[in-house]
Amino acid sequence: MLEFELDTEASTLAFARALAAVLEGGDVIGLEGGLGAGKTTFARGALHGLGVPDDAAVTSPTFALLHHYEGRLPVAHADFYRLAHEAELEELGVDELVEDGAVLFVEWGRKFPGMASRTVLWVELEIVSDVARRARLRPQGGGGDAIIDALGKRVRS
Ligand SMILES: Nc1ncnc2c1ncn2[C@@H]1O[C@H](COP(=O)(O)OP(=O)(O)OP(=O)(O)O)[C@@H](O)[C@H]1O
Ligand SMILES: [Mg+2]
Repeated sequence: MLEFELDTEASTLAFARALAAVLEGGDVIGLEGGLGAGKTTFARGALHGLGVPDDAAVTSPTFALLHHYEGRLPVAHADFYRLAHEAELEELGVDELVEDGAVLFVEWGRKFPGMASRTVLWVELEIVSDVARRARLRPQGGGGDAIIDALGKRVRS
């Protein structure tokens, strides 16, 4: 587990960019934390870090459930807050996306066991103050361990 204090929104965006640099196609990143914790903000930083143009608007996929982007890899950002049934994941083509080598960021993914089992890294965001957040990164499986190792080297050097 890695823990970071993110003192401002800019720190969150910069940290998410650093994480993005060590991600590979097929990685599923679970963004957890309550309403307003910063999941979408984190995804915005990571997407831009993955080469989605800075001027591309990264908005919350609350209603569309899934937004697609093109960076150095195909990227998708999902929000399953409003998803009621796990079967709908199939209609959204989540498996195909991951199998085709996209990086996927998922808000509220933990509520669906199938989604949770595909997740390699959990980013848990907690509100500390109006401007600050705490991030805890928990790897799940070997893929997650490799991400944590690579990220640890980057942020320490
Ligand atoms: N250090 C910080 N990191 C991230 N966001 C911050 C920080 N400080 C303040 N904020 C603010 O907190 C809000 C986070 O909103 P965001 O939409 O990213 O949260 P969310 O977790 O995706 O919420 P939801 O559950 O509604 O999808 C934004 O208004 C952002 O400006
Ligand atoms: Mg959100």
